[in-house]
Amino acid sequence: MIITRPKEMAPFHIARIRAPELFVGQAFAERDTARCPPSSSCMRSTEAAIARQKMRPPHAVTRIRLVLRALLGRARQPKGARMSGGHAKHVPINQVLREYLVTSMTPPDPAVLSLATATETLGDVAGMMLPVEQAGLLTLLTRVARARTVVDIGTFTGLSALAFALGVTGDGRVITCDNSDRWLDLARTHWERAGVADRIDFRLGPAVRTLRSLSDEGSVDVVFVDADKLNYPTYYDLAVPMLRPGGLLILDNVLLDGYVTAPELAPEPLQRRAAAVMREVNAAVAADDRLESVMLPVADGLTVARLR
Ligand SMILES: C[S@@+](CC[C@H](N)C(=O)[O-])C[C@H]1O[C@@H](n2cnc3c(N)ncnc32)[C@H](O)[C@@H]1O
Repeated sequence: MIITRPKEMAPFHIARIRAPELFVGQAFAERDTARCPPSSSCMRSTEAAIARQKMRPPHAVTRIRLVLRALLGRARQPKGARMSGGHAKHVPINQVLREYLVTSMTPPDPAVLSLATATETLGDVAGMMLPVEQAGLLTLLTRVARARTVVDIGTFTGLSALAFALGVTGDGRVITCDNSDRWLDLARTHWERAGVADRIDFRLGPAVRTLRSLSDEGSVDVVFVDADKLNYPTYYDLAVPMLRPGGLLILDNVLLDGYVTAPELAPEPLQRRAAAVMREVNAAVAADDRLESVMLPVADGLTVARLR
């Protein structure tokens, strides 16, 4: 479900609750996100295709399956899942709670807020942007890791790159990449406003190519993956060997709108594929002896994994 932000509220990103099986009644009435023009580059991305399908209510059969799943789902372990060792304690984040949490964190850098506001004016494509509380978490993790070199996959309007640049050590750098430079001016303006533009190195092109080109540039402290979901397995394969011991691999959208536990319920083929791919990556990360990882229910799900 996507809860829209009332106009008078602070310029924070649209809050999202993405567990459709638990929010069947209201979910689809409130899906008003992401109306990318059909010819735009955002529409070509997985994110936009996923957003586009949210415009349509699900088929009646899917609704029934979702309701049944909501009723039965809690009692069933997903196939192959380990025992969870406890019950769900997560509080569904509604708009009031979300306002509360974003006003209860260290106030974001003014450039972060102004970039979030400026991105919102782009329209529905803004749905690709990180929420500001997640940006704050990335800055904090970067500081905790004392990161000097960060690789940020999926620049968009530059919020994650900005968050990392605010967190790296004084001589640090952020290599951020995207296969589009459509939003680069907006990004640069805010990187400059924050005084960190000289720490950010934008590389245009497919992320796989950028990652391969970086493989002999020395070890990296943090790799953040937030681009096309079907390539996550490749990003994961390439990223782990780049990390220094103690370095972090951070994966965004690991819950894939809540469909990761049941890709077959996703209404669109691309979304079903993305959810299935994400499920495989999540399983591989969890089973990877090189890493210790935790999956956090932040926004659309965030995995933080540390190289042993
Ligand atoms: C979810 S957005 C990134 C959001 C951004 N990290 C932020 O902080 O707001 C995903 C971005 O990945 C880019 N992208 C999609 N496929 C890509 C690819 N194969 N290589 C590089 N960038 C890609 C898209 O153009 C889009 O800007």
